[in-house]
Amino acid sequence: MALLSTGKGDLTLNCYPKVSASIQQPWDAADIYLIEQAALGDYPAIINDQWGALSVHASQQGRQNYTWSDSFCSHQAIKENLEKLPKEQLSLNQLDKGIIELPQASDTLWIQCPKSFDQLHWWLLLAFEQLGPGINVSIAGMAKHIPIKWLNWLQLHNDNYIQHPIKKKARLIEFNLSARLPELKRLKTYPGPDEKPISALPGVFSRDHMDIGSRFFIHHLQQLPPLSGKVVDLGCGNGLLSIAALMNGSDNLIEMILCDDSSLALKAASDNLNLRNQANAQLHHTDALLSVLGPVDTILCNPPFHTGNRISTAAAERMFSQSSKLLSSNGQLLIIANRHLGYKPLLKKDFKNISTVASDSKFVIYRCSNPK
Ligand SMILES: C[S@@+](CC[C@H](N)C(=O)[O-])C[C@H]1O[C@@H](n2cnc3c(N)ncnc32)[C@H](O)[C@@H]1O
Repeated sequence: MALLSTGKGDLTLNCYPKVSASIQQPWDAADIYLIEQAALGDYPAIINDQWGALSVHASQQGRQNYTWSDSFCSHQAIKENLEKLPKEQLSLNQLDKGIIELPQASDTLWIQCPKSFDQLHWWLLLAFEQLGPGINVSIAGMAKHIPIKWLNWLQLHNDNYIQHPIKKKARLIEFNLSARLPELKRLKTYPGPDEKPISALPGVFSRDHMDIGSRFFIHHLQQLPPLSGKVVDLGCGNGLLSIAALMNGSDNLIEMILCDDSSLALKAASDNLNLRNQANAQLHHTDALLSVLGPVDTILCNPPFHTGNRISTAAAERMFSQSSKLLSSNGQLLIIANRHLGYKPLLKKDFKNISTVASDSKFVIYRCSNPK
């Protein structure tokens, strides 16, 4: 448990999954900048709160609030941190995922800056469509993650733009939404391994083009013996690997299960599978494999190597250790690893047998198993 002292009060917070505050603090300087400097309004809508610092603060200030996050792990952190508040400080908090639907009462928007500009653009367009022009928007993020061209764009397309000085390496920008926001290509599409379209909304991994690691994985997947039984696409993104798995095996011999931390990734995967008449797949909004029941025959994984904007193998490590517990005695984890991330020592902690299926100068595909 970590204590965050701000000029507006103290907050007790945890990360989800729990990690020591000496490794990862459940807030950043951008959260503190928003809390201490931005106008909160009577009914704030909070977008992209990673651990709950903003939602807990709004509740402590007695505000009913709307909180949106795409991430399962963030939802868990926000819920657990709100539950720690004394009853009299717990305001009504609507926690949402999927496509943002702002309550009509919203009068301010607090945004923790996302990684992708399309995502930020889309959130502002949704706010404009749902609430009209004029609403107060405050965006904060670490300065190194907000390119100057984003700032110029925000200034050009909104009213009363204020850029506050950088504080503890964080930026805070405030403005009123305007009708000058340009349109955005919300759904982007490229051809999948079966030449049918693969589409996704902003924020989903590799929505503009097929990731080169996924392409390498799919190519070699087609050359493996056909898959059958329970097959999990772990960290499924837009569902690309599930589509390849179903092409490699026979539909009625595969029970396909897709897991992702991102609710919009699951929406994209579901839409992409439906387009291929594969509506029977199970979808899990979860951390790694938490909600999946074993035993599982094959797990396919192109692991994430970021947490927010930081390079981190923490989620991948959870994926490996949960996979080893869930696989059947002759089950296999097939993973594609970026060579520079050095996954092999991590995999060795959980698997007795690790063989190389294919490799090139950038990637290695490992087959991992624990035969009994
Ligand atoms: C490198 S992308 C791979 C996406 C897709 N499988 C592909 O190959 O194009 C990793 C995916 O893992 C998801 N992810 C990140 N952390 C996760 C977690 N803790 N549990 C489940 N999925 C997670 C991300 O949202 C992302 O969709």
